[in-house]
Amino acid sequence: MAKGYYISKNMATAAMVLAAIALVTIIALSIVYNREKSKNAAKSMNVTTSMVPPTPKTSNELWDKYRLPDTLVPHHYNVTLWPRLVMDANGMYVFTGNSSVIFTCLKKTDLILIHANKLNLTLFNGHHAKLMGLDGVTAPAIKTTWFQTEMHYLVIQLNGNLKPGKSYWLYTEFRGELADDLEGFYRSEYMEDGRKKIIAITQMQATYARKAFPCFDEPAMKAVFHITLIHDPETMALSNGQEIKTENLNIDGITVTRTTFEPTKKMSTYLVAFVVSDFTYIKAKDKKGVLVRIWARKKAIEEGQGNYALSITQPILEFFEMYYNTSYPLSKSDQIALPDFKAGAMENWGLITYRETALLYDAHTSANGNKQRIVTVVSHELAHMWFGNLVTLKWWNDLWLNEGFASYVEYLGADHAEPTWNIKDQIILYDLQRAFAVDSLTSSHPLSRKEEEVNTPSEISEMFNTISYSKGAAVLRMLSQFLTERVFAKGLGNYLKQFAFGSTVHSDLWDHLQKAADQTSVVKLPRNVHDIMNRWILQMGLPVVTIDTRNGNISQKHFLLDSQAVVERKSEFNYEWFVPIKWMKNGQVQDQLWLLQKSAIHKPMKVSKGEWVLANLHASGYFRVNYDLENWERLLSQLESNHEIIPVVNRAQLLDDAFNVARASVINVTLALRTTKYLLHERDYIPWEAAWRNLNYFFKLFDRSEVYGAMQVYVKKQVKPLFKYFGTLTSNWTTVPSGHTDQFTQIIALSLACSTGVEGCRDLTKSWFRRWMQNPHTNTIHPNLRSTVYCNAIAAGGAEEWDFGWKMFQNATVAAEAVKLRAALACTKVPWLLNRYLEYTLNPEKIRKQDATSTIGYIASNVIGQPLAWDFVRANWDYIFKVYGAGSFTFSRLIGDITYRFCTSFELSQLKRFQKDNAETGFGSGTQTLQQAIEKTTAKIKWLAENKEPVLRWFISESA
Ligand SMILES: *[C@@H]1O[C@H](CO)[C@@H](O)[C@H](O)[C@H]1NC(C)=O
Ligand SMILES: *[C@@H]1O[C@H](CO)[C@@H](O)[C@H](O)[C@H]1NC(C)=O
Ligand SMILES: *[C@@H]1O[C@H](CO)[C@@H](O)[C@H](O)[C@H]1NC(C)=O
Ligand SMILES: *[C@@H]1O[C@H](CO)[C@@H](O)[C@H](O)[C@H]1NC(C)=O
Ligand SMILES: [Zn+2]
Repeated sequence: MAKGYYISKNMATAAMVLAAIALVTIIALSIVYNREKSKNAAKSMNVTTSMVPPTPKTSNELWDKYRLPDTLVPHHYNVTLWPRLVMDANGMYVFTGNSSVIFTCLKKTDLILIHANKLNLTLFNGHHAKLMGLDGVTAPAIKTTWFQTEMHYLVIQLNGNLKPGKSYWLYTEFRGELADDLEGFYRSEYMEDGRKKIIAITQMQATYARKAFPCFDEPAMKAVFHITLIHDPETMALSNGQEIKTENLNIDGITVTRTTFEPTKKMSTYLVAFVVSDFTYIKAKDKKGVLVRIWARKKAIEEGQGNYALSITQPILEFFEMYYNTSYPLSKSDQIALPDFKAGAMENWGLITYRETALLYDAHTSANGNKQRIVTVVSHELAHMWFGNLVTLKWWNDLWLNEGFASYVEYLGADHAEPTWNIKDQIILYDLQRAFAVDSLTSSHPLSRKEEEVNTPSEISEMFNTISYSKGAAVLRMLSQFLTERVFAKGLGNYLKQFAFGSTVHSDLWDHLQKAADQTSVVKLPRNVHDIMNRWILQMGLPVVTIDTRNGNISQKHFLLDSQAVVERKSEFNYEWFVPIKWMKNGQVQDQLWLLQKSAIHKPMKVSKGEWVLANLHASGYFRVNYDLENWERLLSQLESNHEIIPVVNRAQLLDDAFNVARASVINVTLALRTTKYLLHERDYIPWEAAWRNLNYFFKLFDRSEVYGAMQVYVKKQVKPLFKYFGTLTSNWTTVPSGHTDQFTQIIALSLACSTGVEGCRDLTKSWFRRWMQNPHTNTIHPNLRSTVYCNAIAAGGAEEWDFGWKMFQNATVAAEAVKLRAALACTKVPWLLNRYLEYTLNPEKIRKQDATSTIGYIASNVIGQPLAWDFVRANWDYIFKVYGAGSFTFSRLIGDITYRFCTSFELSQLKRFQKDNAETGFGSGTQTLQQAIEKTTAKIKWLAENKEPVLRWFISESA
């Protein structure tokens, strides 16, 4: 799957004027919250489980284990499904189907366990399945069948044994609900030309295929799938393979179409996909005859919204064929944009599903950032067609390798499609620094988990997190850089060849990379790939490397944002790493060195007066860097005198390292603040984005205190030249700059200038928005700037502006535009508007389910919305948890969002109480995030006690 989020949130800055009104609402909501709690306490006393025969909890029976036994392997499935896109007499949407699976017995057994969840199975002679032996073998009779609902098993107990080496045929017929729950085979509704339309679609990863048909639902249980879909003749059916036959037939007096698909390659259940819709497509054929199609709502395709995706798919496919040295394994590649989809995108083999915002680009309304998101997400999913789909990790504990890998090479594929965008450098913003933020907490976890630690669906779903995606990407990028990209790609190609259509564990990849390294004299490693990488994947966290240029001493230490926090998780490597260090001295690149122990003297790093050392060149390593004070001073003066001597990525990294090392109280916070002084001269995107994020962190830390005013004045001064620069570059804001990343920087300039009150900024955004309100059919605001303009205008306005924004949101036909409005509506400073907006998130007719948690998150990022959102979530916890808790990783994001600002002891105690109160309901995929929130809040309280005064004093002295 792709990461669910991308575009940086608007900074919603606000004053405290309305705090009094907010407080009244808070009290009212707390009462609701308490009432809800007492109700739930009563409810939870009645625990009922149906359909499960009484089995003791400590049972050793195979059906009480989450993992399938190793007795049977599937060979192929024949699945026929018929989704009904109209409500039945009971007011339910259903699908019916049948499935047969041919499997081979590996070990003698009288038990068949096959996954089936929420399916009603037809009885044959009192049993839920039929069983037959193949090739003249007689199958034992079925003794009994029943459901172990917790493990999602259909349990089939036999009167005799299945024989090793023999194959059998198991047949089931079933009926399931086509719910709008975004899991398994589900329905999605959207409006077109004033009519409600329904489509049937799938999301199988990680454990939902069992909700569509009974199957051995583990990634290593690969099989061939023969799929047939029955559907309305007005609709189109799609699946992993190409359609090979469509015929009309009559079932019970209804004319239906039956579409049969070519058998798939041997593949995992979580990659199976079906879609029934009245969508349309555009297509192209690549040089080797692979059919590429982009599917979407008719209107979207007619408006050309699929064109951009189609234009980049071929170059990206060609790039990966070359990079992996392996042809695209399938005959076609469909990509479809869905109005209702939980993840960013899903790499079903041959039929990739996307959120509309991740695939559709509308030249008139989509921003430059939307375009970048499309190229990176498409690249990510196409990368999986080989890595993940052709070769699959055996179990979810190695998910990090699958997702980290795609998250790394997505930049390579995107760079190939858009070579002028300089997109590869952005990995440090969107993955490296993002990973650092969570990996610097004691509640982090190693990339790689032991297989036996990951069992339940919610443990599996918890693996889809920032560590797996972003740390995985960053660590693999480091590996690729110290091996060199050529050697890395060579080993990779060999790995794919050896394991095609099979499954692996991560050490299989290390073996092949080692072999590739051994075959060249270019790469000299101080240890083998396994030993180096084990330290990065088997222990959590990252080192901060400290360089003392007075004597050339280099040392490493586990970096923690709270330096006094106790690390309970033990590491067999004592939190030491083998660190590859690329570096430069006074702008001259030096030979790479390896830090293999806790500390070492490296003479060349001892410098004489006036020279500076900069380590972790291009931020290729997964570590932070700290220096002796004198070197910091020399770097700061280099930044101020001529910053361009320092590579652009490192300017961002210096800033981010300084801020974070200061948050850990390792250096004085004023030193970190001083890294922002040179921004007067900075015009590049990556350093500004890094600065913006760190300043935003400070804004959120201080926007309820007296530091805020002084900080505003300082930041205003720093951003003024940038605002002026873009004013000139764009003929006074009438055009946008031509450079891709300049367009991003322009947004930062406008956003920071307006939020800090740079003269002229708010008047600009207000007048643009007013012009639109007066003429709602012609929006002349440039798409790039819309998020910022909408947010500022709605923040400055009242109900009239809000209601206008809401109306435009409801009318938006382009998803990217709708997202901008949805985020901007959270910027209002009027509490009742914010509360009403929160209530809307519970109503799917107003806010789609897929958008509910992120909308609450937007509201929480507003200083006035934050306490309202926190109370709202607590009051509605059971509902929110029930709907989003188990499977979704946007859910853990929600917990992060609503607690982001917490920094007082009062908030900490509320957080702990929340944890205690809901221990029973639980936190599902948000468990880790909640732990992280407690840890972050604790660290912030301590840090503020020591640093608030110096920060205030510094801002005051710098604003003079
Ligand atoms: C539990 O269920 C029983 C039977 O369904 C019912 O009589 C009882 O009131 C329930 N108890 C609570 C606390 O809801
Ligand atoms: C599965 O379907 C294919 C093609 O539709 C057919 O040839 C094959 O016999 C079927 N196999 C089973 C086991 O039903
Ligand atoms: C499955 O059976 C249960 C119990 O009879 C029923 O409540 C449910 O509606 C059925 N589901 C479908 C999709 O028919
Ligand atoms: C940090 O630096 C400031 C300004 O130079 C100074 O006033 C303060 O005492 C320093 N704090 C610590 C803890 O050294
Ligand atoms: Zn992915």
